[in-house]
Amino acid sequence: MSLDLLPLATSTAAAPNGSRTPARPWDDPHSYWDAMTRAVSAVSGPVAALHVDALRYNALDMVVRAGGVPIRVASKSVRVRAVLDAVLDLPGYRGILAFTLPEALWLATPREGARAHDDIVLGYPTADRAALAALAADETAAARITLMVDDLAQLDLIDAIAAPAARAEIRIAIDADASWRAPGLGHIGVLRSPVHEPGEVAALARAITARPGFRLVGLMMYEAQIAGQGDATGAGDAVIRWMQRRSAAELLDRRAAIVAGLRDIAPLEFVNGGGTGSLELTASDLAVTELTAGSGLLAGHLFDGYRVFDPAPAAAFALDVVRRPAPDVVTVLGGGWIASGPAVDSRQPAPVWPAGLRTAPREGAGEVQTPLRGEAARDLRVGDRVWFRHAKSGELAERVEHYHLVDSRSGANEASRTLPTYRGEGKAFL
Ligand SMILES: Cc1ncc(COP(=O)(O)O)c(C=O)c1O
Repeated sequence: MSLDLLPLATSTAAAPNGSRTPARPWDDPHSYWDAMTRAVSAVSGPVAALHVDALRYNALDMVVRAGGVPIRVASKSVRVRAVLDAVLDLPGYRGILAFTLPEALWLATPREGARAHDDIVLGYPTADRAALAALAADETAAARITLMVDDLAQLDLIDAIAAPAARAEIRIAIDADASWRAPGLGHIGVLRSPVHEPGEVAALARAITARPGFRLVGLMMYEAQIAGQGDATGAGDAVIRWMQRRSAAELLDRRAAIVAGLRDIAPLEFVNGGGTGSLELTASDLAVTELTAGSGLLAGHLFDGYRVFDPAPAAAFALDVVRRPAPDVVTVLGGGWIASGPAVDSRQPAPVWPAGLRTAPREGAGEVQTPLRGEAARDLRVGDRVWFRHAKSGELAERVEHYHLVDSRSGANEASRTLPTYRGEGKAFL
């Protein structure tokens, strides 16, 4: 089924029984999570749900935050085709930032019952020989997909797979390092592109444009140390805010110089920057023509820790209570859907409803079982459900085949309204 995030008025419309629902139903957690529980009560656990009002709110809030600069959707943070399609139908969104080349080819290729996307930027370099061969042999896909490079070795690999004269022209964007080389502190940001200084980026651009079979069309600079680092997470916030201010100031000048240099070398179609956590800031950089964001749509709980926005908990999963080891402890089946990144507490799924439950320090969220302690456990019985939020937004989709859709007018047992995840469509890209 498809998903429609318009019209805007849906969330305040009257329910079939005549009652009006609040514009932000998640502000009343009791009825929000109760509605989720009722809507999937007939579905066996573990079950993942997607609240359409919350997704709509998040999607539109990001458009407002972007201040008129188009947003490219980071598909890794969604991994549900119907959600990508629905978000891209909203004004303010344009194009996909894909995470693997097989995924980009899948999204770009016309198929029965699936929309073919024609503006896909691969956000990361690829060394997938089979996928590169498929791209090189397909003029349509090659016109729709832009590859990301930061090293001529990536171009050499493409040439070795398909010689320039024997292939479609390959669209290329440069990933330039947006991290901060802080005086006295060193590298702050992700370890990705080796090209950092304007001169290094210009040299790479000249080398790309000098080679047959490639067309340089874009630049991406992702400031992870700002976009992906919450500034309202508790201890250390003052240091984080200081770092982000300094890094943003440095990046503003450097990105302007890089873009000015590149525009003398090739007519750029786009300069991409930012992520969910930096939409306002990156949009205010006049060198940037488009933003990327994805996490803020489904809102993994890592995105709760920012001062400037407050996403609605759109995606969540429910696990069944299967035993009661003590009066204030219940055990649910499953739970250990830990997010990627450093193995720290924040990467664990968060039990969110009933409120006040916490995992046991020695067990955490377990492979098969997760004990949860708290006063709320006293009222839970075998067969009841506990709701969790995943730390990251896209990774939950790797654990379930479907999201069950819920909205503020959902009744009980509306289990038939589902959207398949990439996994549910038989696709495991990463
Ligand atoms: C290249 C790139 N751009 C943007 C983003 C931001 O994505 P999101 O909004 O999902 O955090 C990411 C996330 O890691 C990224 O790798």
